[in-house]
Amino acid sequence: MNLADSEEMAGHLAMRGYILTDKLDEADLALVNTCTVRDHAEHRALSFLGRLRQWKREKSGRRIIFAGCAAQRLGQKLKKTFPYLDVVSGAREIDQFAQLLDKNGFTHSDAAPNTAAKDITGYVTIMRGCDFACTYCIVPTVRGPVHCLPSTEILRNAVQKAAQGYPEIMLLGQTVNAWRENGKTFADLLNEVSALPGVARVRFVSPHPAFITPPFLAAVKDNPKIARHIHLPAQSGSTKVLQEMKRGYTREMFLEKTAALKELGFAISTDLIVGFPTETEQDFEQTLSLVEQAGFATAYCFKYSPRQGTPAAQLNLLDEKILEQRLDILLNKVKGLAERAYQAQVGREVTVLMESENKGRTSENFWIETKKSYTVGSIVNSKVISAKDTLLITRD
Ligand code: 5AD
Ligand code: SF4
Repeated sequence: MNLADSEEMAGHLAMRGYILTDKLDEADLALVNTCTVRDHAEHRALSFLGRLRQWKREKSGRRIIFAGCAAQRLGQKLKKTFPYLDVVSGAREIDQFAQLLDKNGFTHSDAAPNTAAKDITGYVTIMRGCDFACTYCIVPTVRGPVHCLPSTEILRNAVQKAAQGYPEIMLLGQTVNAWRENGKTFADLLNEVSALPGVARVRFVSPHPAFITPPFLAAVKDNPKIARHIHLPAQSGSTKVLQEMKRGYTREMFLEKTAALKELGFAISTDLIVGFPTETEQDFEQTLSLVEQAGFATAYCFKYSPRQGTPAAQLNLLDEKILEQRLDILLNKVKGLAERAYQAQVGREVTVLMESENKGRTSENFWIETKKSYTVGSIVNSKVISAKDTLLITRD
């Protein structure tokens, strides 16, 4: 999501004559787009901002914009701590970013931004915000309630991305599958986007398990352009902790959903949190056993981080040592998942979207090397003949 927001902000800057560089030495403007989902992310953003002080001194006219969720959370008081900061632009203000640039005198020019595809995947934001209230999570506070973009605008953006040369469209939202419009569902939208000219494959991130329902599965089942990979955050394997997190599902319900997804050929990745304040040793073991049972292809594991203003921040923290131990054990368990998932692909017929002449990604989101060379952006159907660590090899 932040990557897409960064692109959007960079687009507005490009229209004002700015050229993108990742070399600070060359830059006149530093745009820092931030995350605050865990304390660590916010700390990194702030320490980077600290380092920019010297950068700004080195050349006159240099400016700094601090944007995103940490900017939203901390607001204008950031300017007290970092007086050399020029503009603060919170995550909720992204729609007004262009006006903010104008108000602050960022130059207009006739520059025609280069919009040719740099990559395979074009990002299209379809909704922002979150109507859930997971007790550990700061997202509803900083991003606000759900706001769905109209399908006409989404389709227009997707057409534009495809025309720019992005064969894969990634639909984005904090709870992406909560998208609705009158009678239209998220699955309808997936099918519509996949039918647009030039679109070879559609992905989406991040879905909430609540909307993985039989009608959703039925609607995507016969559409091979909808990628067979889903990142479905479980957070915990213990029904008790899931209830305390207010996730809205039990361990059993989550497993039912993953089983149904696997039946349709989906590879599944997930997010897991260790050390939620009420998590007992038994609860943690439930998370370990969920990893076994759900058959994830990968899992991102996080230590619980208390976020100001969230209900869980009122609870007593577990000992940091326990958090570290549990994270260690979980990471060890997760380490072998990818290799196992790659191995399980051997012998399967796969659809590959080529990202270079000899390498691409399967619909299930596995990296694969082809024997022959193919055009970048084309779709190749082949069979997996072997797997080496986290790379598959095709027959053709
Ligand atoms: N502490 C630790 N991890 C968190 N996440 C969200 N909030 C917290 C928190 N307070 C994790 C969840 C989510 C991912 C983006 O970050 O696993 O899915
Ligand atoms: Fe946070 Fe829960 Fe919303 Fe995800 S669904 S953004 S974890 S509140």
